Amino acid sequence: MTMTASGNTIDYGERIPNNVDLAGDRRLQRALESWQPGFLDWWSEMGPALDTRDVYLRTAVAVGREGWAHFDHVALPDYRWGVFLAERNQDRTIAFGEHKGQLVWQQVPGEYRADLQRLIVIQGDTEPASVEQQRLLGATAPSLYDLRNLFQVNVEEGRHLWAMVYLLHAYFGRAGREEAAALLHRNSGSDDAPRILGAFNEETPDWLSFFMFTYFTDRDGKYQLGTLKESAFDPLSRTCEFMLTEEAHHMFVGTTGIDRVVTRTAELMREHDSDEVGAAGGIPLDIIQKYINFHYSVSLDLFGSETSTNAANYFTAGLKGRWQEERRRDDHLLTDGSASVDGVVDGSLIADAAGARAGQDRELDRPAAQRNQRQALRLRVRALRLRRPAPSGPPPTGWWAARSCAGGCRRSCGRFVLTADG
Ligand SMILES: [Fe+2]
Ligand SMILES: [Fe+2]
Repeated sequence: MTMTASGNTIDYGERIPNNVDLAGDRRLQRALESWQPGFLDWWSEMGPALDTRDVYLRTAVAVGREGWAHFDHVALPDYRWGVFLAERNQDRTIAFGEHKGQLVWQQVPGEYRADLQRLIVIQGDTEPASVEQQRLLGATAPSLYDLRNLFQVNVEEGRHLWAMVYLLHAYFGRAGREEAAALLHRNSGSDDAPRILGAFNEETPDWLSFFMFTYFTDRDGKYQLGTLKESAFDPLSRTCEFMLTEEAHHMFVGTTGIDRVVTRTAELMREHDSDEVGAAGGIPLDIIQKYINFHYSVSLDLFGSETSTNAANYFTAGLKGRWQEERRRDDHLLTDGSASVDGVVDGSLIADAAGARAGQDRELDRPAAQRNQRQALRLRVRALRLRRPAPSGPPPTGWWAARSCAGGCRRSCGRFVLTADG
């Protein structure tokens, strides 16, 4: 089957659907085809454990604006994991760092080979890790709708692995092929060969964890892809740009999943006039709070430390930019100026000045955290429509504390509000 959209032709008759003209590069095609059986073995061993026949799934078939996805019933092992890059802009120039203004690179510059490979391996390692973490969830899916969402996320994370493996095979020679093999060798939570980043070795044992993971950890994933999309290495940039299209659905799953859980909790609290909703089948707010605390913390860790020489070097070299680099109104060089970064000295917090580049992670995690809080408050729109007497005793605390409105809204509406605490 051949599908054409936006001038991009994807041949589904090929073993690996792609829009990178694999057929024109027999060596690369053979290399990827030799990696494929290992991937399929990994999928059957470490992918979704639930025995299924057809699942209604979205499959990427193009990258153009007129539509990139095809929806149909597919048996999971027959899903067509493909390699898709966003369309190339022939005039694209480097937007930041010391090479700013030059044409982007279509090949890996020798001096940045090791760093670029490392960035791709770390991103690639997270993709199959989440599939492993979510392996058993199908057995306890709350509904068919949720099951479909789970499998959709899983197959797309599998495709993201393909995306990174394509880059390793196509641009990093033998070392890249070895790294691609290692991506299937490491496993989430393994004692001998764990995944590279901490959050991806944690368990996702239940659906609230899954919703928290897709809410917080996939959001970090989106952020990472956004910064790699700025890369001067154009194939990486185009790969990440297309991955972002799929990532939006993963966060939708998290946002609406948590929304449904909290809404149900709020309904039961109102119905029973009690915070103890466990017996009625709800998840008490303090448990939800614990899940938030955990997933928020491990996801925040993924941003790295506040000051990072690596981040500064990647920025200067043009390998990894800032979120929405091109929309920022500064010189995109950051050789002057400084960012204030809090540090702990002798047990107390002090504001310290770091170089603007080294402090950029800090600068960036602020808007990210604020975005999370805004989302958190938006989540609550429905659950807030509660009429309930003010609870006795002090309000619960935490990052999102729920308490009865004490008139802060000027109308003393008696609704529940969630506040970003501290
Ligand atoms: Fe992903
Ligand atoms: Fe994702």
